[in-house]
Amino acid sequence: MLILGIETSCDETAAAVIEDGRRILSNTVASQVEMHARYGGVVPEVASRQHILQILPVVSQALNQADVTLEQLDAVAVTHGPGLAGALLVGVNLAKALAFAKSLPLYGINHLEGHIYAAWLQGDDPAASPGFPLLCLVASGGHTDLVLMEGHGAYSLLGRTRDDAAGESFDKAARTLGLGYPGGPAIQRAAQGVSPRERLPRAWMAGSLDFSFSGIKTALLHKAQSHGLTPGSTGDVASREPLVKDLAAAFQESVVDVLVTKTLDAARRTGAKGIILGGGVTANTLLRERMRASSGELPVMIPPPALCVDNAAMIAACAYFHSRRHPVAGWDLDVMPSLSLG
Ligand code: KG4
Ligand code: ZN
Repeated sequence: MLILGIETSCDETAAAVIEDGRRILSNTVASQVEMHARYGGVVPEVASRQHILQILPVVSQALNQADVTLEQLDAVAVTHGPGLAGALLVGVNLAKALAFAKSLPLYGINHLEGHIYAAWLQGDDPAASPGFPLLCLVASGGHTDLVLMEGHGAYSLLGRTRDDAAGESFDKAARTLGLGYPGGPAIQRAAQGVSPRERLPRAWMAGSLDFSFSGIKTALLHKAQSHGLTPGSTGDVASREPLVKDLAAAFQESVVDVLVTKTLDAARRTGAKGIILGGGVTANTLLRERMRASSGELPVMIPPPALCVDNAAMIAACAYFHSRRHPVAGWDLDVMPSLSLG
């Protein structure tokens, strides 16, 4: 079964062709990062316009690379939420047009569920080995969710962030430290090889599987200010660099510590047979290493970094498993900017 996936929920215009839910025939992403970087974050209107310019070339490239024609496709899958309404609309409208023109089934996919299904694109089939239930951490720019996956399409939400998402906190911390956008990769680069002398607090939310990241962000801001480090502050760049690196490493340590500890706690409490990580933050090297080192016997499935950040391969993979249980979407499929899991 050949599925064309389309993803335009935020600042990546992406298309992919996936065979039988697991084999990547093509996976094309046109990033808008440079365009948004000058504003320090995603500008929704700029994102929508850029998706309109990019979507046709990106879909054509995905079909060409897969050596597949529209006539050979079996279905079209598209992210319909959560995300930016204007951005989602571009993908949903194109997916509808293609499906209508070629009389193909159309699937509207939850972006967060897509992040989980990236784990199906590599290695063993998680449903077969280790099998359900699986504990999933989805950590992205907009979400930090702990979800128990009891089977294909069956989710219970165990915990979520009560304020900033983990990725959002990386982006804000990078801004505080003058490291630019997107913050996650910038903090990771700055923290490379640094054992921080500074320590930032952790919000454990005792007894709950919820997260909170806004306090860590504020603690970082106060620490930076106490050292005379503010965004745009002048002075000797070379003398500021060790402090920036130290604070970046302390911040990364703090967020990773909380994510790993709470994910393992949730896995233990639920008797999960394995752990799946997904979403842009799970591209973080320290998080990947710590999770693997701390999980003991419990298998941990983490897609390669390119499949952790936004892509359309995960959307098509999700649709394949989705297609066995869910009815095809109608032509009234709408965008759902606040769609959640579980
Ligand atoms: O899943 P994603 O690509 O888009 C959303 O669905 O939001 O996640 C983007 C987020 C951004 O906040 C970005 O800073 C963060 O993921 N991110 C990282 C890393 N790479 C991307 N955070 C920490 N370390 C990274 N290496
Ligand atoms: Zn995402």
